[in-house]
Amino acid sequence: MREYAIALDVNDRSEAISLASKYQGKFTFAKIGLELFTAVGPSIIAEVKDMGYRIFLDLKLHDIPNTVRGATISCSKYGVDLLTVHCVGGIEMMRAAVQASNDQEGGPSIVGVTQLTSLPPIPSEALTERVSQIVEGGAHGFVSSGLEVGTIKARFPDLIAVVPGVRYDLDNVGDQVRVVTPSEAFSSGANLVVLGRILRDIEDPERIINFLERDRAEF
Ligand code: C5P
Repeated sequence: MREYAIALDVNDRSEAISLASKYQGKFTFAKIGLELFTAVGPSIIAEVKDMGYRIFLDLKLHDIPNTVRGATISCSKYGVDLLTVHCVGGIEMMRAAVQASNDQEGGPSIVGVTQLTSLPPIPSEALTERVSQIVEGGAHGFVSSGLEVGTIKARFPDLIAVVPGVRYDLDNVGDQVRVVTPSEAFSSGANLVVLGRILRDIEDPERIINFLERDRAEF
C-alpha cells in the first residue's frame, strides 16, 4: 500500500467537511485526530466515511491497559481502519488494544506511535525498544518520522509504516522537527503519508496534488 491521508486538523464540523470535500476522490484516507474528535465528537467519522474516505483515527491512546481496551472497543464500533496508540504505554497496553480490536468484527489495525515527529530523535536502542512493543504486542504498524521509517521497515517489512511530518519546503516546518518530503517518505518505505498543514493551508490545491501524485507514482 502507498497512499496519502489528508489530516482534518480543524476544530469545526463544517470546516472539516469542506476540507474533506476539497480533496474528495483524490486521497484514500482521512485522518481524524484529537483536535477534530474532541471538538465535534465521534459522529464526524460517519460523515467523512460517507464521503468515500477510509478512516485513520489518530487518538494516540495512552492509558492503563484496561482503559485502552475499553477505548479500542468503542473506536472499533465507528468502523475505522487504523487506530493509533502510544508505544510508551508499554507492552500490556499494546496487547490490550490489539486484542480488543481483534475481538471486534471489523476492528481497526492498531498502529504504535514510536516518537512524536515534533520531538528530537531518540537513541536507536530506545527506538528498537518501542518497535519491539509493537511487534511483541501483535500490532499491525507504526508511526514514525520519515527519518526512521527505513530502519524499521528493513527489519519488519510487514508492518504498516505511517509517516507524518511531511513538507515540500523543509525550511518552513512549524512545530515539527523531523520532516521529510513525500518522495523521501515513500522511498524509505512509507505506506501511508500524512498530509496536514501542507494541504490545509494552501490556496491552489491542484498544483500540489500533481506533485503528490508524481511522488507517489515514482515508487
Ligand atoms: O500539519 P502536519 O503535516 O505537521 O500534521 C501532522 C499530523 O500528523 C498531525 O495531525 C499530527 O497530530 C500527526 N502526527 C504527528 N507525529 C506523530 C504522529 C501523528 O505529527 N508521531
